[in-house]
Amino acid sequence: MEKTIVCLAGDGIGPEIMESAKKVLTLTERLYEHRFHLQDEAFGGAAIDQCGQPFPAKTLEACLASDAVLLGAIGGPKWDNATERPEKGLLALRSALGLYANVRPVEVDEAVAYLSPLKEESAKDVHFVVVRELTGGIYFSQPKERTADQATDTLTYTRKEIERIVEYAFQLAQTRRKKVTSIDKANVLESSKLWREVAEEVSGRYPDVQLEHLLVDAAAMELIVHPGRFDVIVTENLFGDILSDEASVLAGSLGMLPSASHSETGLSLYEPIHGSAPDIAGQSKANPIAMLRSVAMMLEQSFGLREEAQAIENAISSVLRSGRRTGDLGGTETTVSFTDAVLEAMEEQAPVGRGR
Ligand code: NAD
Ligand code: IPM
Ligand code: MN
Repeated sequence: MEKTIVCLAGDGIGPEIMESAKKVLTLTERLYEHRFHLQDEAFGGAAIDQCGQPFPAKTLEACLASDAVLLGAIGGPKWDNATERPEKGLLALRSALGLYANVRPVEVDEAVAYLSPLKEESAKDVHFVVVRELTGGIYFSQPKERTADQATDTLTYTRKEIERIVEYAFQLAQTRRKKVTSIDKANVLESSKLWREVAEEVSGRYPDVQLEHLLVDAAAMELIVHPGRFDVIVTENLFGDILSDEASVLAGSLGMLPSASHSETGLSLYEPIHGSAPDIAGQSKANPIAMLRSVAMMLEQSFGLREEAQAIENAISSVLRSGRRTGDLGGTETTVSFTDAVLEAMEEQAPVGRGR
């Protein structure tokens, strides 16, 4: 199989974890006889430094012409007060590619279940996915205004936007444990009242899938107390952002959780849920697992390469089982040494006769 993958390394730990991703993709090419063209493009703060804007036109063109996009992370204190911010580029990218469905699976690897604040038995029950609406809501709605003494953000959702993401969640639930939890703030927000109404309507088309509604404040508590009750969570942009970082605590570290963002065109983007971690950048301290799992999601969901994706997942688990881990999980491995261990495990586990 031959594919072109646009690589947006970005800022902070972005380039370090992108390096890990490329090594794993290069080994996958050799072991499973594929050809991946890895095309680097400028994005985020790095692009601001190069050409004054976080999302250059050339980067957009490359993404549109690619088979999938892989993103490290963007942002950092250097650009926090600039007029052009890296985060603005990330939102523009999601919008330009129409990446409305952000899928964030939350699983607890058995080897590190003891790091979760939950009792180990409850940690083993955690198998859910957050489906976050990614191109609407308070992130994008107009007007957004700022004067010296007043600031305005607007939160708008259309029926069509809600229907599209809730449909996505129900279809995903049909392939899983057939339960959707829709999270909103329908006791206060008009947009949430519409969200709930539309979720009910969509649910009528999926009689085999159970729908429950939760208010976001109660959901924040339930995620920690009874995480085993969730299968597919569907929620709006900002709630999904916050709840997914909260959920990362269950997995032991923010450095563990990957994501996929899907569009209606078939083009998808894959990125860890975490940011550029300026506090540990440049020291080879970053946990590459979220990034490598994002690579696995790309192989499976964009290219249909199930076996290859599973090989990456298995290699990560076996390295964790051997006790090796990065600092965020209480270990002493560097980004580079942990990645090398994953590569070694992939080599060892590759089926004989497949490129070795
Ligand atoms: P962050 O996710 O970058 O970091 C939060 C904490 O988690 C930090 O202590 C960090 O060291 C740790 N952490 C994150 N990823 C890790 C990893 N892979 N391994 C080990 N530890 C890890 O969030 P923040 O500090 O609030 O934001 C920093 C910058 O990142 C900001 O500019 C923010 O806007 C940006 N950001 C970007 C993205 C993205 O690119 N998609 C996502 C979130 C935040
Ligand atoms: C994420 C990040 C982004 C978001 C920021 C950096 C714009 O937190 O990808 O989760 O809020 O969506
Ligand atoms: Mn976030």
